[in-house]
Amino acid sequence: MDETGDLEINIILNLKKAERYVTAGELSKACKVTGGQVSDAVRELSSRGYRVDRVPGEGYRLVGTPDGIDGADIRSDLYGNVLGTEVFTFGRVTSTNDVAVSLARAGSPEGTLVIAEEQARGRGRLGRTWFSPPGCGLWFSIILRPSLSAEGSSTISLAAAAGVAESLEEAHGIKAQIKWPNDVLVRGKKICGILSEAEFIDNRVRFVVVGVGINVLTGKDAFPDDIADIATSVAIETGRQVSRTGVLGRVVNAIEENYTELRDNGFDRVRKKLLGRSALIGRMTRVKTPNGVVEGVAADIDITGALLLRKENGSTERLVAGEVIGIL
Ligand code: BTN
Repeated sequence: MDETGDLEINIILNLKKAERYVTAGELSKACKVTGGQVSDAVRELSSRGYRVDRVPGEGYRLVGTPDGIDGADIRSDLYGNVLGTEVFTFGRVTSTNDVAVSLARAGSPEGTLVIAEEQARGRGRLGRTWFSPPGCGLWFSIILRPSLSAEGSSTISLAAAAGVAESLEEAHGIKAQIKWPNDVLVRGKKICGILSEAEFIDNRVRFVVVGVGINVLTGKDAFPDDIADIATSVAIETGRQVSRTGVLGRVVNAIEENYTELRDNGFDRVRKKLLGRSALIGRMTRVKTPNGVVEGVAADIDITGALLLRKENGSTERLVAGEVIGIL
């Protein structure tokens, strides 16, 4: 099945925003396409489980989205003070980060949440793909607009990772650790990955899209061979088929708590939580950085989110980016 294309996404967004009947003329103007293309796209959406009511003379109205993760259910679980003020749910997209970046560029507000049942081209860090099949996980992206310098922007995804780890532990009794920069691990296996993408103006954050992937219902045999031994899920760890919407609500609320703490009071409290949950602190760690491989004892995370490694020669190296390739 093909992913929901740009035109279809645009039509869904327009119909969701309107919450009323929208004429074909209004849609073709908003999406800059012909009336014929609008009706083809609506037909395509209907075949994917979107229920679009059509009334001659009045136009189109979105009355239902594909089953699974439902926007109304999600909203009722959220604090909704900052995150989830707008929620967009999709059946299949290329990547929720792609959709959220487009929305952010078009002016969508802080807190906008984009979630998809399935990603055709889910993206991981360092150009990797992210396994995002339907019915298994939570694949979502949040638009944030903090007043932060470019240097401090990586604290945002660290705060999100702390939120994911805390909520998994509180709700499901799973002991979750954080592997800098922002993987969430359980028993050393990855249960969640975070890909943040930011744009800046004059060295200040214009927006950050925080993309979160959590393996919730994925069974042991469902992971592809290359990650089968290093990935896990909530279902594997608890032995229970938990509700994805329930997990989502708790995770987003916990991210909101950490984000508002960071935004209002700075990084220090979140930083202490991260240190308490770190899979690295005090351990000999090997990190691949853009400037080569560095090895040392992980000593601290500083106030900008950088990892401090104490090397054998006694010097300290400050890493702002990189990938841990060994915990020795
Ligand atoms: C990583 O660990 O490499 C980061 C994985 C991030 C995956 C999430 S799923 C939702 C969002 N959309 C994407 O394409 N990627 C992120």
